[in-house]
Amino acid sequence: MAHEELVAEARQRIQEAEDSAQLDAVRVAFLGKKGQITLLSRQIGSIPQEERPAFGQELNAARESVQQALDERRRQLEQAEEQARLEAEKIDVTLPGTVSAAGGLHPLTQVYHEVRDIFVSMGFDVFHGPEVELDEYNFEKLNIPKEHPARDAQDTFYITDDVLLRTHTSPAQVRAMLNGEPPLRLIAPGRVYRVDEVDATHSPVFMQLEGLIVDKKIRFSDLKGTLNAFLRRYYGPDVKTKFRPGFFPFTEPSAEVDVTCTRCGGKGCSACKGAGMIEVLGCGVVNPVVLENCGIDPAEYSGFAFGLGIDRLATTKYGISDIRLLYENDARFLEQFS
Ligand code: PHE
Repeated sequence: MAHEELVAEARQRIQEAEDSAQLDAVRVAFLGKKGQITLLSRQIGSIPQEERPAFGQELNAARESVQQALDERRRQLEQAEEQARLEAEKIDVTLPGTVSAAGGLHPLTQVYHEVRDIFVSMGFDVFHGPEVELDEYNFEKLNIPKEHPARDAQDTFYITDDVLLRTHTSPAQVRAMLNGEPPLRLIAPGRVYRVDEVDATHSPVFMQLEGLIVDKKIRFSDLKGTLNAFLRRYYGPDVKTKFRPGFFPFTEPSAEVDVTCTRCGGKGCSACKGAGMIEVLGCGVVNPVVLENCGIDPAEYSGFAFGLGIDRLATTKYGISDIRLLYENDARFLEQFS
């Protein structure tokens, strides 16, 4: 076949190649080791001497021409492939995106963090006691005698005779005193458990935060000042507090503290059952018997303790009328706090 025809055929097939694999096949067919143009060049030995230079030149020209066509087509194909890729990867930045919902901290965790930060800013350490507790620490060392009604299986989840789910965070006081030396200044947060039917104000599991200070010359006025400062920071400077006499076997004297009802501002409403005030914590001067039970000399040291309900702090501050909302994890409720 004459050079021109070969070149024409090659160019035709190059144009028809639809991707780089097909193009490569055409290259091999013409310029490869056994390609038609390569084979043609082997004939040079069989033609007369004087025709050889012209033959060679034509052959080179043919090879170059085919190579050029190959290069050209390859560029075209690469461009087309690039174009197709861009087309496929195209995103419309004006389309509305899919919004993925961000998580948030549970309101009880938020309240705990707020309370913790206030006490930490006053110099309190954070201490953690276990939820599965010894009867000895939950009751005995806290001066709660065997015949006390709280020790009844009606009220306490017992695991064995000696082990139970703590009914308050006060056993953390015992652990802190047994493990450390005064001066002590700590808070101990966590879940507590009581045998209770679930209703708007009761839950078998809820959250408390214990506080304990043991040092020289700690008096009831220190307790009052500390808790008033805390409650004003938590509820705002206008909150009114009322310390009512109370009774706890592990503190003497003891008090229960009410704050102005945030719903009615003190006028009396259904949330505070007409009282205008709501109880948020129990507290008192640490009973010397408890200090002694925990290896601290009551002649040298004294202290105060308090236990507040995190749930109570949350419901009163946010006007939540049913504590079940805090435990049922309905996203529509929780989203209001994130
Ligand atoms: N532990 C008590 C309760 O659960 C609260 C409290 C703690 C009272 C510390 C006085 C001192 O009701």
